[in-house]
Amino acid sequence: MRVEDISLEELKTLANIIAKYVKSYDLNFIYLNGDLGTGKTTFTKYFCENFSVEPSQISSPTFSIVNVYNGVRTIYHVDLYRIGDIDEVFYVLEENFEDKEGIFIIEWSDLFKEYFTEKGIKINFYHKDEFLRDIDVITDLRSLEEDLRRWDCEREKV
Ligand SMILES: Nc1ncnc2c1ncn2[C@@H]1O[C@H](COP(=O)(O)OP(=O)(O)OP(=O)(O)O)[C@@H](O)[C@H]1O
Ligand SMILES: [Mg+2]
Repeated sequence: MRVEDISLEELKTLANIIAKYVKSYDLNFIYLNGDLGTGKTTFTKYFCENFSVEPSQISSPTFSIVNVYNGVRTIYHVDLYRIGDIDEVFYVLEENFEDKEGIFIIEWSDLFKEYFTEKGIKINFYHKDEFLRDIDVITDLRSLEEDLRRWDCEREKV
């Protein structure tokens, strides 16, 4: 489903709703795609706060490839933008993939789609203007989709 004209503050609410479902369901993968500067890392920051990760710990893994945040769950924040060979990522993440409690957030997953087939929530970001984004959330969790639709209707009334 698509949510249009999302402000920064609304992105935080969206991240909180999604975090609630990741907590309650057996979900480990979040795939984030969209052009540079559309909000993937900002979303990750808001999302991770729900798992008691210090906001100051969270940064873009553009150069580090993988950042690991220790909150109430361990969150592996990955950015594939600068990766030439996917083995660079698997080399770093090899043992982490065994972490069945871990949450993997993958920015630019579509660059290596064929390697990221684990079921998860996909979020695509589109730049609308300086302060607004359109966002597609792709999930087979009906209740999450219903929750997002309800929130989308509510916020339009404001
Ligand atoms: N409605 C909005 N949603 C998301 N980001 C917004 C919004 N309005 C303004 N911004 C700003 O846009 C920037 C988004 O940058 P961010 O690093 O999150 O993008 P990114 O998608 O991770 O980029 P990259 O592909 O380079 O990693 C931030 O500076 C953020 O404050
Ligand atoms: Mg980023």
